[in-house]
Amino acid sequence: MKVLVINGPNLNFLGIREPEVYGLKTLKELNEEIEILGKRLEIEVNFYQSNHEGQIIDKIQESYNVIDYLIINPGALTHYGIGIRDAILSTGIKTIEVHLSNVYSREEFRHKSIISDIAVGKITGFGSESYKMALHYLNSLKK
Ligand code: DQA
Repeated sequence: MKVLVINGPNLNFLGIREPEVYGLKTLKELNEEIEILGKRLEIEVNFYQSNHEGQIIDKIQESYNVIDYLIINPGALTHYGIGIRDAILSTGIKTIEVHLSNVYSREEFRHKSIISDIAVGKITGFGSESYKMALHYLNSLKK
């Protein structure tokens, strides 16, 4: 099983950015943890981060017929990035939406997601565990 993990805008600033909301772990540390779990579960995991919607769209398009699942934290683009929704729909890539924080306990504009209804599911509020829960779910699909 091949999985791509995409992180959107400002997630490269994890560890620095609002640590009371997002914790102290850097994106590199987070990705390393996910990679270790991926190896243990025998799931091939690759990583991509960009602050630019167009680059994320390019990456999703490049992944057409290449990956089995996308795990995406679109950052702020979650709430308005219709191009990302269209890229997921265009490629038909099965997608799990993840968030570090519980978006429902925060400002109202974060309650709306432009991809939740087209995602396989959504995991929000468990910090770095959100990503790992997504991997465990994918592992459960293996026969
Ligand atoms: C986030 C939540 C978003 O509302 C925010 O814009 C982010 C991070 C999260 O992981 O909790 O950048 O996606």
